[in-house]
Amino acid sequence: MSFKVTVFPSKHEFQVEEGQTVLDAALAADIVLPYSCRNGACSTCKGKVLSGSYEAGPNPAHILPPEDLDQGYTLFCQARPTSDLQIEAHEIRMASDIQIRKMPARVMALDKVADDVMVIKLQLPAADPFRYYAGQYLEFIMRDGRRRSYSMASPPADNNLVELHIRHMAGGAFTDHVFGAGETQMKVREIQRVEGPFGSFFLREDSDKPVVFLASGTGFAPIKAIVERMIATGSQRQAVLYWGGRRPADLYMDAIARQWAETMPNFSYVPVISEALPEDAWSGRNGFVHLAVLKDIPDLSGHQVYACGAPVMVDSARRDFCAQAGLSEDEFYADAFTTEADAV
Ligand code: FES
Repeated sequence: MSFKVTVFPSKHEFQVEEGQTVLDAALAADIVLPYSCRNGACSTCKGKVLSGSYEAGPNPAHILPPEDLDQGYTLFCQARPTSDLQIEAHEIRMASDIQIRKMPARVMALDKVADDVMVIKLQLPAADPFRYYAGQYLEFIMRDGRRRSYSMASPPADNNLVELHIRHMAGGAFTDHVFGAGETQMKVREIQRVEGPFGSFFLREDSDKPVVFLASGTGFAPIKAIVERMIATGSQRQAVLYWGGRRPADLYMDAIARQWAETMPNFSYVPVISEALPEDAWSGRNGFVHLAVLKDIPDLSGHQVYACGAPVMVDSARRDFCAQAGLSEDEFYADAFTTEADAV
């Protein structure tokens, strides 16, 4: 049995097979709704059901505020229709040459840039250009079928080489492999299976609003890809990067961010440290990274914000920027950072 879903305001329609989620069916029909984690953790896929019945799953009640639930909002990556549905969602226009596909990938380089951060370079098959938007992510498919998501830290390149920043989660099957903490260690030239690109975290280039990039830890990765794309296209858009970490070493590519600020006319960089120790001799900004943004830019009503990092940081930023600084919720773009899923 299948059901028809109609998206408003576009009035686009697609079919959902029994048991399939609204998001999966939409993507299969080349209708891209906003999404990131695909596992009910980030709320990027939040949208309103106007009519019809569906199984919501447990996650909306955990991460959406009660007033959203009362108004009919749910998570489309979890919702499984049990009748025809009418939904309200912002569709995202993707270039037609961006296709999600599975492919083998060869590990070309492993570079440990901090105690717990590995930079991996992956070679994707050269025969077919791998098209994606800077800021999107790919998934490793493990032998047992489990998947791990990582943002691409480089913009699309003719040589189909992609860079990823992987944080070690002790006890995590995949990252123990990457860091050699388990039975085997990832090696240069080994083959992995990946699928992508996924996600709707990329720069909206049809806007000229000033941009605030907000990152914690390896949430820097997709923002690096976006900024490198801005450099490649000669973007003059005003942008500021706030990158937060507990200790200065957490800002593992600080020198690159500083270089952007020196060489890009409309770009600035604010590193923020929350738990500096005396031996760090840190003389820069202290505290929570999203609070540094609020202090510097108390009125965000004319901005776009792109946030990636720990869920607590992203959630706090969304809440405080919208409630205290007048940011439109539609102009807050976030990427899920669900690496805790790796600790199984
Ligand atoms: S909660 Fe649905 S994409 Fe993250």
